[in-house]
Amino acid sequence: MARPQPLVAGNWKMNGMLADLAEIEAVRDAVDAGGGGGAEVLICPPATLIVAAAKLVQGSRLKIGGQTCRSEISGAHTGDVSAAMLKDAGATYVILGHSERRASYGETNAAVRARAISALDLGMSAIICVGETKAEREAGRATSIVGRQLLGSVPAHPDPSRLVIAYEPVWAIGTGLTPTNADVAAMHRFIRGEIERLVPAGGSDVRLLYGGSVRPRNAAELMAIADVDGGLIGGASLDVDDFMAIAGVYREDVKAAASA
Ligand code: 13P
Repeated sequence: MARPQPLVAGNWKMNGMLADLAEIEAVRDAVDAGGGGGAEVLICPPATLIVAAAKLVQGSRLKIGGQTCRSEISGAHTGDVSAAMLKDAGATYVILGHSERRASYGETNAAVRARAISALDLGMSAIICVGETKAEREAGRATSIVGRQLLGSVPAHPDPSRLVIAYEPVWAIGTGLTPTNADVAAMHRFIRGEIERLVPAGGSDVRLLYGGSVRPRNAAELMAIADVDGGLIGGASLDVDDFMAIAGVYREDVKAAASA
């Protein structure tokens, strides 16, 4: 059965000044020259750059997304942005429930679900992040934690083509550490099963990304794992060459061979 188009997404986190729009132009040109292979390529810069970045990618295959949003459309929420504002600025995706936001702002599964609903209702795509801490993995609780996050944060009846799940083990983010390929495979198999249960109409087509210390040196083996439909890239997305090296792993022939 044909798999959905993979997605390679760069999460710039709190990095990026106006001068760094040149990086987005460079990625845009590389993607439009075929550098992303068979993958859809997305950059999520800080909110301050979205308007300008979205203008730069008009007519390009490169997409622009936000890094979070609130569920309300507008209101007295100092410092926050809504999905409607992200869409208005030109974003077509939004990352939700990243572990850094769950940790720093106490974002709950219920809040993540409400935000995902607001983004999906506006026709945007939502990337919901899940993942266990080191202590939870060592206690043998990784799947139960991820299962609970999925149950609590995935909306009912989403459009499967616009829902993305990113498995990001907290201990692998920015550390240079990654789970073994077997552990990634086992977790993605578990997530696929849960998503097929939670989204009976099309759960097998929801893209599942792996994130956490993806680098050019390990991208090919991580992305070849069954049920890994792309990556959510932090640090390595800040370097055009590294990011394009990772995105380029998804040449259609390579993925076809991997899933044959
Ligand atoms: P790193 O790729 O820097 O480990 O970050 C992963 C991440 O948090 C992407 O959302």
